Amino acid sequence: MPRLSIDGVEIEVEKGTTVLEAARALRKDVPHYCWHPGLSVAGNCRICLVEVEGMRGVQISCNLPAADGMKVRTSSDAAVKARADVMELLLINHPLDCPICDQAGECKLQEYSFELGSGRSRFDVPKNHKRKAVEFSDRVVFDAERCIVCTRCVRFTKEITGTDELTVVQRGDRSEIDTAPGKSLTGNYQMNVVDICPVGALTSADFRFRSRVWFMEQTRTVCSSCSRGCNVLAGTRWNRVLRLVPAENAEVNRWWMCDRGRLDIREPAAEDRLAGARLMRGGVQVGVEPGEAVAALAAALAEARAAGGAGLFGLVSARLTTEEAWLARLLLRDHAGSPNLDLLPRTGEADGFLETADRNPNTEGVRAAGIAPAVGGFGLDGFRAAAEAGRVKWAVLVGEDLSGRPEDLAALAKVPFTAFIGSHDRGAAATATVVLPGATWAEKDGVLVNGDGRAQRIRPLVRCPGDARPESRILLDLLAAAGAAGAPDPSSSPAFLVKAMAAAVPALAGLTLGGLGERGAPLRGRTGVARVGTGVEV
Ligand code: SF4
Ligand code: SF4
Ligand code: FES
Repeated sequence: MPRLSIDGVEIEVEKGTTVLEAARALRKDVPHYCWHPGLSVAGNCRICLVEVEGMRGVQISCNLPAADGMKVRTSSDAAVKARADVMELLLINHPLDCPICDQAGECKLQEYSFELGSGRSRFDVPKNHKRKAVEFSDRVVFDAERCIVCTRCVRFTKEITGTDELTVVQRGDRSEIDTAPGKSLTGNYQMNVVDICPVGALTSADFRFRSRVWFMEQTRTVCSSCSRGCNVLAGTRWNRVLRLVPAENAEVNRWWMCDRGRLDIREPAAEDRLAGARLMRGGVQVGVEPGEAVAALAAALAEARAAGGAGLFGLVSARLTTEEAWLARLLLRDHAGSPNLDLLPRTGEADGFLETADRNPNTEGVRAAGIAPAVGGFGLDGFRAAAEAGRVKWAVLVGEDLSGRPEDLAALAKVPFTAFIGSHDRGAAATATVVLPGATWAEKDGVLVNGDGRAQRIRPLVRCPGDARPESRILLDLLAAAGAAGAPDPSSSPAFLVKAMAAAVPALAGLTLGGLGERGAPLRGRTGVARVGTGVEV
């Protein structure tokens, strides 16, 4: 274990640690462009220069192994001067077009230029002009004039996706990045090159020019498009989610996320969002106050309960938070007595990297909360036959509208009383006896449990439209209206709900919202560690 000193502070590090990594461990921000914690070391940008006692000149810290007794100075006059010279060189041919560059506000070139640059250029001959707005694919746009040829993007396609689609062409100050002739970037992870590009050379076709980044609110949350639960930073403005980018979590997604999850941000602002409650009257749905719809559903559940609960079917989405699923169980099973609870599976193909086959974000949490058929009851598979046979008198759908499932919708049409609590005016919403407008993943605070058993917190990013509310609030009102024994108070905070659920459900014992921190925590008895590899074909 080498022991070295950095700016007079001693630190002991693992053998093989570089000086840059040691400095970062001490929270010293040594400038870097080409170095990235998830990629091999290239050592080509030269901005990470430091001075080391006994060594001639200045050294690049990203490729210098820490050695015993080393005395490093990150901010000596020589190191700062050398970095300023590198900055001047990098900016010689740069277009300096920050006012129209999408990266402005989160650009490392801009940041270090403020820190180290001179504010004026001594270069008085015409700059090199290169290709602008090159479509590397329909998702990634390249500006060769802004590129500093750090090769992060090249190494990403070589080392992480194994697709090897980008390379450096030309030499010297003509160098630029390109794809093979006639080829484009492909695959479900290509937009990660936009995130890791330290400058405005690679931009997202979906996000570019939609908002200046400093106008957006940035919130750490979790992607809800599969059971990996990638940590993300959501950029919001005008009550809209404009962008998702990966947030580092070594236990889940490291520094990456897939494009499908990243682009799955349209639903909260979809035109068919439900904004008001409705009740079926005389064969026609009419708009009502939410309280009236809650009372109608509570009355129907009282009938179901009085009949023993066997004629009640509850479909509870695995897109809901764990607390919402638990509240649905309290209402539909513990109070109304239904043995027939289930979730709707959503499956795709696992890609061997991040994206999993389970496209629900919270199957683990919803199952742990008790959403499954009880002994003698039926699940979604048995629902169709039971409905056809007239054995289902009441059906309550929480967070699932069954759109795209015509056979289930046909079976639902045979049920005399149906209630839909959900976010969009689709599928079952059109024919339900009671409709209560719910929320999407972007509008709620709560816990999701990923496929590896790691509990993570999602946070509200935008407000619900009209009378829509998170399903947890609706279910709390329903429990109160139904007079369910032992139900949490309708005004319970998200943190209190998690605590109450953890006290009631052994599989979730010990869970607290505060205890999850930024990166989540494994459920008791689980590792919660993802099997995220590198160099796989995706
Ligand atoms: S496009 Fe960006 S990531 Fe790729 S080499 Fe240029 S500056 Fe680096
Ligand atoms: S792998 Fe899954 S959780 Fe991660 S970004 Fe993609 S869809 Fe979202
Ligand atoms: S970060 Fe060290 S040379 Fe680029």
